[in-house]
Amino acid sequence: MNASPTAASQKADDLIGAYWQGAHLQNPAFLEELRAANPVLMSGTHGLTVLTGHPEITAALRHPDIRTIKFEGGEGFNQTASYAVMNPMMLFHDGGSHTRLRSLAQRAFTPRVLEESRDFIAALTDDLLTEAAAASRKSGGGENGVDIVQAVAYPLPVTVIVRMLGLHGTDAERFRAWSESVADLLGGINLPPERWAQIEADAQQMREYFRTLADDLRAEPQPGLLSALAAAEAEGGGGRLSSAELLANAVLLLVAGHETTSNLIAGSFHALAAHPEQRAWLAADPAGRAANATEELLRFLSPVRGSGRFTTAPLTLGEVALPAGMHLSLSYASANRDPRLYADPHTLNLSRANARTHLAFAGGPHYCLGATLARLESTTFLTRLMTRFPDFVVPEQPISHRPNFALQGLERLRVVF
Ligand code: HEM
Repeated sequence: MNASPTAASQKADDLIGAYWQGAHLQNPAFLEELRAANPVLMSGTHGLTVLTGHPEITAALRHPDIRTIKFEGGEGFNQTASYAVMNPMMLFHDGGSHTRLRSLAQRAFTPRVLEESRDFIAALTDDLLTEAAAASRKSGGGENGVDIVQAVAYPLPVTVIVRMLGLHGTDAERFRAWSESVADLLGGINLPPERWAQIEADAQQMREYFRTLADDLRAEPQPGLLSALAAAEAEGGGGRLSSAELLANAVLLLVAGHETTSNLIAGSFHALAAHPEQRAWLAADPAGRAANATEELLRFLSPVRGSGRFTTAPLTLGEVALPAGMHLSLSYASANRDPRLYADPHTLNLSRANARTHLAFAGGPHYCLGATLARLESTTFLTRLMTRFPDFVVPEQPISHRPNFALQGLERLRVVF
């Protein structure tokens, strides 16, 4: 590394400083600026390297000397309930510890469980669309309509994951609040102290709720993934999940089921309305085309913006030499718009041949565990929507995205049926 600040390293410092402040959250074009400067942009001053290129991120996700970040905080943080809820999540583990946690969850999350959910998802989607259309008509139609985030995008994946886990639907409001707190712990920015206090209170409640539930389920197993997790034993005699591990990974599944697919569904309404010729293409054969459309919408929307990693040894990525201990920020949203892979990357093209090469589900050991479920939910939703309501309207309205480093989604979206 060159110690004297050159114009290039000053520019890298400035760009990464702005990124750290969230410049890309409201202005996604900022990611293009970063990639143009260097798809592996390092700032010694900030101790941070931002990866924005598809090939470079793909290489990083599989590199043996690049590890996932640990969930840590300042002094005293490891005494908090927030830490206890987050730290044992598989997202923050590597190697044998990760394999153990993941294989246990994977065993409970079988293709059979998914297959059994197929009809339920279709029926639920139809019910939610019917109710949304009725609410839209009741609102007088015109410019009013219904907030699709509340009416469809949110309840659909939440109801599915709550049922799969074997939790009680009646706790939905509580799960929502918890889920928002975990989303803030994963990627919230500039949180005020009173928000931190609320997050800590939610984390304490989560611990209490899942501790009691796990004990009950071990004593008396019930249908559902959580019971299977509680009973699961690691392959090779690694022992059962501890209560802390069960809690954290159940919360992870609950939150992943809440926050990501919801953003994909709400974003799909918006993207389809903004691209009428693409909507018409999908409407011509919804069942046959929904699968590729799902891949392209994942590429286009990137519901998980990015994630963090760090280097454990000196290594070269792209053409940049990185020291050990360098913090990496991987922008999946930027990789998914990399013109080296995707022609006309900012255009939605539902028949794009290589749409499935996106990094919306990451890659390598932490590849999304719920990818098959998310794909099933999205293809079902697109098929039912475009079969029943291909002419939905998204009126002119201010669009605001959630301010979160990890997750990307619309706060609300009015749709008229
Ligand atoms: C559109 C929907 C979804 C997207 C875009 C998405 C995206 C992702 C991404 C990018 C990661 C890797 C994070 C990283 O690199 O650090 C991930 C991990 C994970 N996802 Fe998803 N996800 C979705 C839906 C789901 C669902 C529905 C579930 C389960 C109910 C789920 C469960 C998980 C779990 C457990 C992990 C951790 C895997 C590990 O660390 O080994 N996801 N997801």
